[in-house]
Amino acid sequence: MRAIVIDAFGGPEVLREAELPKPHPGPGQVLVRVACAGVNPADWKVREGWLASYFDCRFPFVPGFDLAGVVEAVGPGVDGLRVGDRVFGTSRQGQGENGSYAEYTTAHAAMLSLVPPGISLAEAAALPTAGTTAYGGLVDAGGLQAGQTVLIHGGAGGVGTIALQIAKAFGARVAVTCSAANADHVRSLGADLAIDYRAGDVPRALRDWAPHGVDLALDAVGQDTLLPSAAAVVRPGGTYVEIETLISRATEAQVAEAARHGVRLVSNMIAVSRLAEHLAALASLLAQGRVRMPTLQRLPLADAALAHARIASGRQRGKLVLDVAGDMA
Ligand SMILES: NC(=O)c1ccc[n+]([C@@H]2O[C@H](COP(=O)([O-])OP(=O)(O)OC[C@H]3O[C@@H](n4cnc5c(N)ncnc54)[C@H](OP(=O)(O)O)[C@@H]3O)[C@@H](O)[C@H]2O)c1
Repeated sequence: MRAIVIDAFGGPEVLREAELPKPHPGPGQVLVRVACAGVNPADWKVREGWLASYFDCRFPFVPGFDLAGVVEAVGPGVDGLRVGDRVFGTSRQGQGENGSYAEYTTAHAAMLSLVPPGISLAEAAALPTAGTTAYGGLVDAGGLQAGQTVLIHGGAGGVGTIALQIAKAFGARVAVTCSAANADHVRSLGADLAIDYRAGDVPRALRDWAPHGVDLALDAVGQDTLLPSAAAVVRPGGTYVEIETLISRATEAQVAEAARHGVRLVSNMIAVSRLAEHLAALASLLAQGRVRMPTLQRLPLADAALAHARIASGRQRGKLVLDVAGDMA
């Protein structure tokens, strides 16, 4: 089968096309014929070796967490998925196995969900990591409730565009930060307020809208771009959820400082143990039209290096997917 592999950690130039044997699904796994592979910032961080302490990469290594495709074969002990099912979810890359930048990959059945009718495989491939991170961050870590005021920091990115729609679907009022060029885009997805983070002071811009601070903030940017102001954007008794960027993380001193102002500061990772539940919740929101996939940019699998350069720029609007078998998508 055709795949993109790396033989060592490094820049985008280490990505190369290769022919590999088709994998076989083990117990609890299915073999998926991949239509599209979603691209996430974590993919270039894996390629550069930033995640080497989380799992072993056996070279030649196929990158890619996210996928959508059709079940080709079912391993022993799998209930609930059949050959021919349209599925989306994550590969076994997070366990150090080969990922989704390939014609075929194996995945744990528990880390896949059925693609709702009317949703393309390209759209579905864009959702797993960004969507489950947004859902877990807001609902599990943040305790999102109807009627709350919510700030999504990084509202134009993959996590942010889904997060703002989830918050709206739950009945929250939602402000987001983004550059001025993306303000109309995030408003079209339901944001009540778009704050241009480049124009100056985000806490001040938020003050007219939520004078005592918001009930819940989700930080999908990290790198201390807003976190030092956690207590200025969240009201006492509220929660600031920081998505771990895998490069930066809130310090104990920042957690303690937020707590002094009555703000709960939590760092959150994608919840692998709740992935299927979160995928199913997202599939339901998509099927009901309460969340729609934002702008999708599609590139051929062979352009994986270009996709990595774009996602690593930090300027990607919406989601980027690689077409592995574009005719299926
Ligand atoms: N630990 C986990 O489980 C986990 C899971 C998923 C994601 N993540 C991490 O979460 C981060 C976000 O992921 P993503 O998929 O949303 O990335 P992304 O799609 O690449 O995000 C790009 C967006 O970030 C916005 N942005 C950049 N700097 C900003 C700033 N200072 N203020 C506000 N917005 C800013 C840009 O908007 P403008 O162009 O408008 O500036 C752009 O649209 C990444 O670091 C990723 O690795 C972690």
